[in-house]
Amino acid sequence: MASLTIRKLDDSLKTYLRLRSAQNGRSVEEEVRVILRALTEPADPSEPPSTPLPATLPEPLVPQPGSAREARVTLIIGGGIAAYKSLDLIRRLKERHIHVRCVMTKAATQFVTELAASALSGDRVFTDLFDARSEFDVGHIRLARDCDLIVVAPATADLMAKMAQGHADDLASAILLAASRPILLAPAMNPMMWSNPATRRNAATLQRDGVHMIGPNAGEMAEKGEAGVGRMAEPTEIAEAVVAMLKPPVPRPLAGRRVLITAGPTHEPIDPVRYIANRSSGKQGFAIAAAAQAAGADVRLITGPVELADPKGVRVTHVESARQMLEAVEAELPADVAIFAAAVADWRVANEGGQKLKKTDKAIPPLQLVENPDILATISKLKEKRPDLVIGFAAETEHLIDNAKAKFARKGCDWIVANDVSPATGVMGGDRNTVHLLTKDADGVHVASWPIMTKDEVATALVAEIARTVGQSA
Ligand code: C5P
Repeated sequence: MASLTIRKLDDSLKTYLRLRSAQNGRSVEEEVRVILRALTEPADPSEPPSTPLPATLPEPLVPQPGSAREARVTLIIGGGIAAYKSLDLIRRLKERHIHVRCVMTKAATQFVTELAASALSGDRVFTDLFDARSEFDVGHIRLARDCDLIVVAPATADLMAKMAQGHADDLASAILLAASRPILLAPAMNPMMWSNPATRRNAATLQRDGVHMIGPNAGEMAEKGEAGVGRMAEPTEIAEAVVAMLKPPVPRPLAGRRVLITAGPTHEPIDPVRYIANRSSGKQGFAIAAAAQAAGADVRLITGPVELADPKGVRVTHVESARQMLEAVEAELPADVAIFAAAVADWRVANEGGQKLKKTDKAIPPLQLVENPDILATISKLKEKRPDLVIGFAAETEHLIDNAKAKFARKGCDWIVANDVSPATGVMGGDRNTVHLLTKDADGVHVASWPIMTKDEVATALVAEIARTVGQSA
């Protein structure tokens, strides 16, 4: 019988199981047992109902990693007709495994009941600044701090004015003034109130203060015959904005660094219609460009002819020949890191035809080859403008490590990524790669052999390694 180790499941599944078991008051093991039992047996009426498994697993929110607790939102419901939509917002947040604690202004209680907000949130609702019970057990300061995010929906014109001025004469405004967590407002008001210069000023002040806003949207208002900008954003929109704000910030270890990458093959013309090429797809170089961009780098990608879309956020120069590639590389210097992943043709045709070569009865025209400039070696040996870290690739079909070591000495680069491109590996044009990272120090050359990975994974691992090294030298 196979055994299952929860620790070895992937992170998103573990996160989901933790959230779900916490919500159902069970241990993770018990929860897994309940899920498996539910798949094989009819429902046991004595078993408390479980949260169903959603089609897609939730992404980890702020409190994950390191903590098994749910993300927590303090939802301040302002006094406007859109307050009824806040009840739906509570449900949308709970669906996303977010704990919601509601605070209602006095005016909000005219539109929706505390009981409804409490039943939907599964927690008591707070309304009074001077509530002996709340001051004793939670207090407005803790309501402001004991959460990951404060959402105000609907944010009325009055509540925004109070926030902009720093008032604290009721529980909602006191929490907002005492808040140390990010704040998201979902304004909702009559279009005339939204466009009033006073509200415009208040909204600008709040945005300057770092308060986030979603909406208001344009459309019909709850009041008959009124339309314009002022409708509160829909609950699902607000819930998605909350999820986005709760996600941990993406690390950008290469922010402020310029990374130059070459990729793809080169085409060396024989005449205006024929050329010498190789089988490089450019996938590995493009993946590195995308990974470096995701790590915050200013990426300059110089590519030979490939059938790939330019990676988003990357400045791409398209070239054909090795000489054009060298020129484009030199134009992008200075750079902090240069990665030469292109499969540059070693030779070009010396006697390139100005016109299409004709097939005649005479002898077959000979192709005279001359050596192309070695871009990697040229940049590695620069006296000025040499990037701090120069990385070459060694695509070999035999004696991989030995050939890569020899290349190290010849090219003068700092690292070499060696990969076996013999046809049986399927690396050329394929989506996977097995690489060895060669580095050197005073003790000599070190070889780190990585397991087989997708080219995207190789790119991410290489960029992480670069970030560690360049980060240290900063
Ligand atoms: O000598 P070889 O082509 O095997 O070297 C491979 C490495 O050198 C790769 O990083 C490749 O991008 C780079 N190279 C270059 N210019 C050349 C030939 C290779 O930049 N003309």
